[in-house]
Amino acid sequence: MEAVIDIKVIKTEKSRISEVPFDNLPFGKYFTDHMLEVDYADGQWQKPVIRPFQPITIMPTNATLHYGQSIFEGIKAYINPEGKAGIFRPYDNFRRFNISADRMMMPAVPEEIFIEGMRQLIELDIKWIPRKGDHSMYIRPFMFATDNVIGVRPSSTYKFMILLSPTGPYYPKPVSIHVEEKYTRAAPGGIGFAKAAGNYASSLKAFAEANEKGYDQVLWTDAFQHKLVQEMGTMNVFFIIGNTAITPDLDGAILEGVTRDSVITILEELDLTVEERNLNIDEIIAADKAGTLKEAFGTGTAAVISPIKELAYKGVTVKLDPDSWTISPEVKRRLNAIQEGRSADVHGWMVPTAH
Ligand SMILES: Cc1ncc(COP(=O)(O)O)c(C=O)c1O
Repeated sequence: MEAVIDIKVIKTEKSRISEVPFDNLPFGKYFTDHMLEVDYADGQWQKPVIRPFQPITIMPTNATLHYGQSIFEGIKAYINPEGKAGIFRPYDNFRRFNISADRMMMPAVPEEIFIEGMRQLIELDIKWIPRKGDHSMYIRPFMFATDNVIGVRPSSTYKFMILLSPTGPYYPKPVSIHVEEKYTRAAPGGIGFAKAAGNYASSLKAFAEANEKGYDQVLWTDAFQHKLVQEMGTMNVFFIIGNTAITPDLDGAILEGVTRDSVITILEELDLTVEERNLNIDEIIAADKAGTLKEAFGTGTAAVISPIKELAYKGVTVKLDPDSWTISPEVKRRLNAIQEGRSADVHGWMVPTAH
């Protein structure tokens, strides 16, 4: 299929790639030579431009700074053994992005800008994709309001951009988790299902307090009783109890993770029963006491799969031994093999960047 959109491309005069420590890539610190930028004005999307990575200028009256109309996505691209780049399930992120946009009263971004723009940008900076296991190119599409007026109403103008960041493993070690009993991330009717910037801003205090107590991450719980588990900071969560994998159902308060969906598919291939339902923290603690809690892990684009080694709730601590697990490491192995092009893409998850 040929490109269906005309993107203006202004190439950098000098690549910064030689300044990047590819042997030690912290998440989200280095960005490639180019970025995609397109404005929404007069009720329509203007011509997209790929230009050298550079600052953008905004007025102090920029509506996003005051009222927070801002959404984003996180996607990864990998290099396969033939040296070609493939993007993992970008159409799912595209769909979710526009669900977020709708909730935040922002315009939908057309597929040819989101997908085609991303493909062309990656092709241009393809040398930046790290060629190492557990490494990839993190793709950050985002949109924010650009009206310059103080007043609570939807902006009439927006900017959509895509950045690329070469990245290594996000959470290389198993994590310890504080089960949240004070703060709430999302409640029914709120914006929990949207990848909106405000969700992350409001979570920072809970993270900081959990960190102070010695935990790596927070596991959010329902707004009413703080009993039903929801998701972690940037990950959905799974518990394997007996031969059943349980993950909270999509009730509007959690993000519909693309990794979550992929992991459900692979767990079923491994003959596990997968249940998407309400999951009470008491059930997890009881399973641990009964010796049936086998594994617990987070799933997300950044970390892929992140084993949970410890879970603390109101003075009760559940300790797990990720070194002895077999299921989630196998899920991760299968997922990585598909992403890195080392095994057949039987689900049609990979989208090549080249035409
Ligand atoms: C709040 C939240 N939940 C879950 C996830 C996992 O979603 P995905 O697997 O699509 O990355 C993310 C990361 O995107 C997230 O930010």
